[in-house]
Amino acid sequence: MTKVIMDCDPGIDDAIALTVLLAHPEKADLIGVTTVGGNVQLDYVTQNAQKLLTFLGSHAELAAGQATPLVKEIQTASHVHGKTGMDGYDFPENSLDYPIKSHNAVTYMYDKIINSDEKIALVATAPLTNVALLLKTFPDVKENIEHIYIMGGSTLQGNITLAAEFNAYVDPEAMDIVFNSGLPITLSGLNLTENKAYVTMDEISKIKDLGHVGVMASSILDIYAGHESSIGMTKIPIHDACAVISLIAPELFTKSTNYSMDVSLTNDQYRGMTYPDRRVDSEKKNSIKVLEDVDREAFVKFIFDSIASYDKK
Ligand code: BDR
Ligand code: CA
Repeated sequence: MTKVIMDCDPGIDDAIALTVLLAHPEKADLIGVTTVGGNVQLDYVTQNAQKLLTFLGSHAELAAGQATPLVKEIQTASHVHGKTGMDGYDFPENSLDYPIKSHNAVTYMYDKIINSDEKIALVATAPLTNVALLLKTFPDVKENIEHIYIMGGSTLQGNITLAAEFNAYVDPEAMDIVFNSGLPITLSGLNLTENKAYVTMDEISKIKDLGHVGVMASSILDIYAGHESSIGMTKIPIHDACAVISLIAPELFTKSTNYSMDVSLTNDQYRGMTYPDRRVDSEKKNSIKVLEDVDREAFVKFIFDSIASYDKK
């Protein structure tokens, strides 16, 4: 069983990803959750993590991290995730009593990882600000990181801009540091999450029948799916679940290629665009496992079974 720290910005798909992760204690021991400004401001995402960890009955430690990206101002995605980042469900008032162990996610992660008897995997489903600062400030930490599973970037389309995926766009300088850290990375980009690992509206409508966690998941997904369908999407991506599932059920992913990946740091329309070096004589700056296809039906079933499992425990 792998020890895991999840760095996230819940965020509706982050919430589903966390729900799936916590449903599989036999595969992953979630020791910590760290938050970072992204989908909405840091205070909101940290409160959302408190709500989720309380609701899902977790005892993972929670640490709040960086409010803003390394270089630029934060750009949020409240137009997708709602004002608070997780509108749509009334979590109990006492959720905000969930303890916040630290307000410095970078030193929190460092202490946890460096003092662990076994290597720790990171799942990162948000702008990579915390992770980049960790690797830059404390390079010795790399020795005890097993793998980083990231949702971010794309080998094809963007979403927040024509060229860039949201997490990459918000903090491309951080993504550049992480991509070139030398650590093993598995990447779930939009080429996978939007094009292959989507959930249909019909499937989403069935989540409410999956027990009490299903009711919560479907209440928050309604807002998210409502936004996605309002812009013409009929296939709804649950992006961040891909990063979690690439750790706990990697067999569901049917195609991947190792690429040297680059991210554009320019201040123009290409900022945050990620691109694989497909040349035969690629410079091989790094080697990132880019997931390219998934057994979609098995993937959706995995999410559904994970949500339903809470009422069977
Ligand atoms: C990513 O951006 C965020 O809005 C989602 O939570 C996901 O991590 C998708 O581009
Ligand atoms: Ca996210």
